[in-house]
Amino acid sequence: MNETEQQLRLIATSALKSIARNEQIKQHVLESESLYPLILRAARRFIAGETRDQALPEAIKLISKGYSVSLDCIGENKTLEKECTEAKNEFLQLVRSLRGTGHLSTMSLDLSKIGMMVDGELAYRHLEELLREASLYGVTIMISAEESFKTEQIVELYKRAAGNYVNVGITLQAHLHRTERDLAEIQHYPGRIRIVKGAYQESEDNGEPRSERLTEKYLRLVEARVASGHPVSIATHDEAILGELRRRGYLGQPNVEVEMLYGIRADLLKTLKDEGYRARVYLPYGKEWHLYFFHRLAEYPPNLYRAIADMVTPPTSLQCEY
Ligand code: FDA
Repeated sequence: MNETEQQLRLIATSALKSIARNEQIKQHVLESESLYPLILRAARRFIAGETRDQALPEAIKLISKGYSVSLDCIGENKTLEKECTEAKNEFLQLVRSLRGTGHLSTMSLDLSKIGMMVDGELAYRHLEELLREASLYGVTIMISAEESFKTEQIVELYKRAAGNYVNVGITLQAHLHRTERDLAEIQHYPGRIRIVKGAYQESEDNGEPRSERLTEKYLRLVEARVASGHPVSIATHDEAILGELRRRGYLGQPNVEVEMLYGIRADLLKTLKDEGYRARVYLPYGKEWHLYFFHRLAEYPPNLYRAIADMVTPPTSLQCEY
């Protein structure tokens, strides 16, 4: 890639990330009778459907092929208590639907969807209700990572929950400067920790852009968590990182799994699964795919070409790739 192309790619990434977090655009797309179905055709490559009933068969198929799954009714930043309660109720139904899949399923959620933007106590009450129900079925709830201004509150809510429940996990973003400190503080909790690079655009004060330094930091975080003996999800599509972790002998450790987003590098995850490594697919569903979809375009701009093609000819099931 020459310098101009590189520059253009950076500009496109930044523009797509700002579209991703623009609530007005999100609302407009959600409410538009013409835009919503058109963009959905492209988003469909990355989501398992708009409803739980569409997502569950997809999850069952993946499980039958030897993967674990993590289901998420995507969405974030709910500011009305009623919406947070509705979101919590949907997750409650999801947990109940996962009975029987036990440890093969985790459920992921954004705390800002179930109350954190209204009141921390509301989010905690909803989280506890979900954790109690999930513990009946052996299901773990994974808390997602959000923008850095929410991280302190998310980590505090996680600590409170992890002090009372073993079936709660958290996602840590390697790109944030604070993350090594956060990991050290929560290492003793037995729940799963998912390590991602971080999707949100952060200032230099808060985070590290994609770089060799970030790769080194990601490897250090994984190394520290593997050594703790507690479960860790290596949540990346970065072949070089996965290759290095394999070379160091971490991928095959009993507390380790590799987790990737639905529709991304299915070929790589399949290869790892076929080689005997534990492999999990993060499977989002729902109508609020706006932020999620634009992040997927932003972190790999060639997806834009594919999105345009998908709007013309919608993709069929991606299962064949897994
Ligand atoms: P990176 O972005 O450097 O990409 C490495 C390579 O992977 C690319 O060169 C390309 O080959 C491939 N690739 C990456 N993204 C692609 C895409 N969209 N399409 C096609 N190829 C792609 N983030 C967050 O902030 N909060 C969260 O809670 C979560 N949760 C989460 C769960 C799981 C299971 C995963 C895998 C990821 C997340 N993320 C997340 C997203 C994460 O922070 C990050 O943005 C993406 O995983 C992309 O980063 P990579 O580690 O893949 O590396």
